[in-house]
Amino acid sequence: MLGGRDNFAVERSYGERIVASVPAVPAGVRAQRAVLRRATRYLVADAGIRQLLDIGAGLPTKDNVHEVAQRIDPATRVVYLDNDPTVVVHAHARLAENPATIAVHGDLRDPAGITAHPLVRAHLDWNQPIGLLMCGVLLHIMDDEGPAELTAALIDALPSGSYVFIQHLLDIDDPATARMKHFMVRAFGRVQFRTLDQVRALFGGLELVEPGLVPMPGS
Ligand SMILES: C[S@@+](CC[C@H](N)C(=O)[O-])C[C@H]1O[C@@H](n2cnc3c(N)ncnc32)[C@H](O)[C@@H]1O
Repeated sequence: MLGGRDNFAVERSYGERIVASVPAVPAGVRAQRAVLRRATRYLVADAGIRQLLDIGAGLPTKDNVHEVAQRIDPATRVVYLDNDPTVVVHAHARLAENPATIAVHGDLRDPAGITAHPLVRAHLDWNQPIGLLMCGVLLHIMDDEGPAELTAALIDALPSGSYVFIQHLLDIDDPATARMKHFMVRAFGRVQFRTLDQVRALFGGLELVEPGLVPMPGS
């Protein structure tokens, strides 16, 4: 749906079934990537952030976070983190010649394990602001796993002046959302859509940058 070359037959065929049932999905996932690119550009070009920690980074696609960031400043350091070993293997293959970017295995449900990870500690300067990206990943954290406590633990560990970006699927009472949930639960087993207020709670008391927490165009 996004283009790129790191995808498998089983994913393509499942994708076709999803699109047949919920035709808006390709526009939605492209909007998700567009907002991730926009957030990355904002962090590097406007906020002056030079280190990014992308949790739930996903398989490489077109215009990945490090490419967007390093077009602005090639020295921007990026850590991709994912709990899917396949994602980390693909990222390694792509990043072989990019010393400013690394990919590590880790789990959002273990924030202390992320912030204490030797490679994460070594690659990022924990005395300088960090841009924490959580795009399309918090929906895989169930309410009983304490998503707000997990984000709070990460936010507490961030150096002063850091930023947090969250993209989340919205819980809207309509048939397309219900069909999407159905497919995602079947594909991933664990999916939790949230209301705008529930997503806002994941930021803790952080001050929001304009335009704040808003629905994405195209989704
Ligand atoms: C929908 S993809 C999002 C990819 C990318 N961030 C984007 O927005 O296009 C979600 C990613 O989160 C990862 N993920 C799911 N649960 C996770 C967890 N508990 N810790 C770390 N990564 C997780 C999945 O393996 C997958 O690669």
